Amino acid sequence: MTEPLVRLIRPSDLPAVMEITRRSLLRPWSEAVWREELASPFGLYLVLEEDGGVSGHIGVKLIADEAHIMTIAVRPERRRRGFARSLIEAALADPASAGARRVYLEVRPSNTGARALYDSLGFVETGLRPAYYGDEDALLMTLDLRNRPRR
Ligand SMILES: CC(C)(COP(=O)(O)OP(=O)(O)OC[C@H]1O[C@@H](n2cnc3c(N)ncnc32)[C@H](O)[C@@H]1OP(=O)(O)O)[C@@H](O)C(=O)NCCC(=O)NCCS
Repeated sequence: MTEPLVRLIRPSDLPAVMEITRRSLLRPWSEAVWREELASPFGLYLVLEEDGGVSGHIGVKLIADEAHIMTIAVRPERRRRGFARSLIEAALADPASAGARRVYLEVRPSNTGARALYDSLGFVETGLRPAYYGDEDALLMTLDLRNRPRR
């Protein structure tokens, strides 16, 4: 086993990343949406690789002083190993995020695992987006990076 490595996504990672999202999210993105996101100059997309395979990913959109976590998932068999935390920390430590002052994300109120993850990282609930997912509202969670030492 090699140490897990967080690195920038490559086009060749897309099949593995899409497979993870199909198994992890109720509304996984289509390949067209993925390709559009990966082409965006505002996007930062990272994967966590172990033993040559992809075990998780994160996508962050960076606009002005805001970072928006657009997608994050870890392969079901590889959860509770700190991988999602590592992906979030790596994305926020990346030079592309240097100008970010606040981090936002939406989460389903029923997604207790993800909410526990975000709570543990210091995100706080700052709003509700009614019917955001169609079948469920979204909680808006925010992490304030101001006054936080950068690594
Ligand atoms: C949410 C998700 C990304 C977490 O990935 P992960 O790699 O298992 O998370 P981590 O191991 O980094 O968890 C770090 C901490 O978050 C909390 N946490 C994570 N998953 C949890 C769960 N299912 N139940 C309770 N707490 C959880 C714990 O505090 C955990 O620390 P601990 O294991 O030392 O107790 C993963 O469960 C997943 O892919 N879910 C499906 C996709 C999804 O819901 N994405 C988020 C959409 S908003």
